[in-house]
Amino acid sequence: MLKKKEKYNVAVVGATGAVGLRMVSILEERNFPVARLLPLASARSAGKTVKFHGEDIVVQELKEDSFKDIDIALFSAGGSVSKKFAPLAAQAGAVAIDNSSAFRMEKDVSLVVPEVNPHAIGDIPGIIANPNCSTIQMVVALKPLHDLFKIRRVVVSTYQSVSGSGQKAIEELRKQSLAVLEGREIEKNVYPHQIAFNCLPHIDEFLDTGYTKEEMKMVNETRKILEDPTIEISPTAVRAPVFYSHSEAVNVETEKAIDAARAREAMAGFPGIKIVDCPGKNEYPLAVDGTEKDAVFVGRIRDDLSTRNAVNFWVVADNLRKGAALNAVQIAELLLRRSNSS
Ligand code: A2P
Repeated sequence: MLKKKEKYNVAVVGATGAVGLRMVSILEERNFPVARLLPLASARSAGKTVKFHGEDIVVQELKEDSFKDIDIALFSAGGSVSKKFAPLAAQAGAVAIDNSSAFRMEKDVSLVVPEVNPHAIGDIPGIIANPNCSTIQMVVALKPLHDLFKIRRVVVSTYQSVSGSGQKAIEELRKQSLAVLEGREIEKNVYPHQIAFNCLPHIDEFLDTGYTKEEMKMVNETRKILEDPTIEISPTAVRAPVFYSHSEAVNVETEKAIDAARAREAMAGFPGIKIVDCPGKNEYPLAVDGTEKDAVFVGRIRDDLSTRNAVNFWVVADNLRKGAALNAVQIAELLLRRSNSS
């Protein structure tokens, strides 16, 4: 449990990365009570600075003893860094909020989306896991439907932006796009194929089942967060040539009677969801509109004409904010509220 204090020492591991930079700016935006911000990254970045409340704060190299006197450590530097350093942060007395997949499915680690399962945070969280970006936006939309209609099956296709693969991938899409438009050879470093003007049905490693690890994250994490191992989920995860924000086409089958109107009403009343659904005016959620926003945007809500008790919708969220940095800061805020009320 986080000890009650007026202000907290907060470390951001991976502070120079696509998610880490947003963790820092979101802590500032939301006026999180930070006594000392400690930006950590690899030796490559030591000495660079990040802006926080108008100050340039020097990035330090992540080391085993980095977490002395730290209360909260937000991690977004990849799974292997989390595996080694999140337990060290917890041992040093901090609560580690980890954006990697390293601990998400461990039995005694909470996997939390604050609008969906705040109670899961537990009493003595050394490490709390932030779910996968494509899972977060989907479970926010699914939760009100599951509560009212009990979800039986979900079929989902994702259209995920390159920022989910980090800064290098953003640069790869930019450079490849320019190269293609100028008729030059493209260079591939992050993805196995050209991502500019192309869609790759391949995110993370392939498993023997033919599914990818990213797809199985959506299955396993959704079941854990919604606390229902019976939900059947069939995902296809696709990398799209989009810089920021993930989009998902979701089909949901429920046990109780559902239709588009009832689904819309349930989702509209749920915290964190914004409905954008006026097809007559060409209004539906778009990645370019969802970027730099906090909400999960839902639209194209319609009956599934092929079967009973099923609806389709389209859901968009900023993968670096609600899908990662914002959700992590919201977990930290949840911890704060807990420690203030205890
Ligand atoms: P660095 O900038 O020094 O490489 P992204 O996902 O956008 O690529 O960002 C990854 C983040 O994780 C960066 O801040 C990066 O720091 C950091 N990082 C990567 N490897 C390590 C490591 N071994 N130790 C500490 N930080 C790391």
